Amino acid sequence: MQTNARLPLIAGNWKMNTTIDEAKVLAGRLRPTLDKIDGVEKLVCPPFVSLSAAKDALQGSSVKIGAQNVYFEEKGAFTGEISPLMLAGLCEYVIIGHSERRQYFKESGEMINKKIKAAIKAGLKPILCVGERLEENEAGKTSQVVVSQLKDALADLGNANGLVVAYEPVWAIGTGKAATGGQSNETIGLIRSTVGALTDAGAAAAMRILYGGSVTAENVAEFISQPEIDGGLVGGASLRAEQFTAIVKRTSEIKGG
Ligand code: PGA
Repeated sequence: MQTNARLPLIAGNWKMNTTIDEAKVLAGRLRPTLDKIDGVEKLVCPPFVSLSAAKDALQGSSVKIGAQNVYFEEKGAFTGEISPLMLAGLCEYVIIGHSERRQYFKESGEMINKKIKAAIKAGLKPILCVGERLEENEAGKTSQVVVSQLKDALADLGNANGLVVAYEPVWAIGTGKAATGGQSNETIGLIRSTVGALTDAGAAAAMRILYGGSVTAENVAEFISQPEIDGGLVGGASLRAEQFTAIVKRTSEIKGG
């Protein structure tokens, strides 16, 4: 498998943080330092209302932009929703099926599947999040949960080119209690083979799979040094410019160039 062909990706998920002005400041602070780091794809995912401001602040920079969610219809009477067509001119990536969306907004596997298809159709690159809850982990059901989430999300997808998957154990998100590199590597290996079986093996071999859940500048090396792990989806630490830059830098040192 051509593991070295996969460009590492570090994505910052700002979640529901930053006003438009704060987003401009954060993007402006990240830009000069991140632009100096090679061998890693750098991505920030601000709230919807700040996408345009972030796009302006990062114009001509190597730092890319993603959204945190998308609806699956193109337009119509869906008050409060944002369509893939609206995002297409604003950003390159979109996070889909984050555990917070599954948990607080009751997103089902079927909905996530529709969102993935709609995003791809609009030319966006989805970052599909999967991961088990604490009780599922403790019951030894991690593999079962992750495989079932992938089957739902990728049903009838056909072509998985451009898809990114993030393995985010729910118990590790925002808790300061990251998983271990070894465990994550094993689960991510399973994710790769499952995506291969569900779509095609070549696309799965080339697909980036990230680890997410309490990633910091201090622990990122443990994940990035694993052969199956191609980067990170970073929440809390992505709101601090020095932390996020340090995570990207460490990734470049270990995997890049
Ligand atoms: P965290 O969030 O880094 O704050 O744990 C990760 C995520 O939810 O994507």
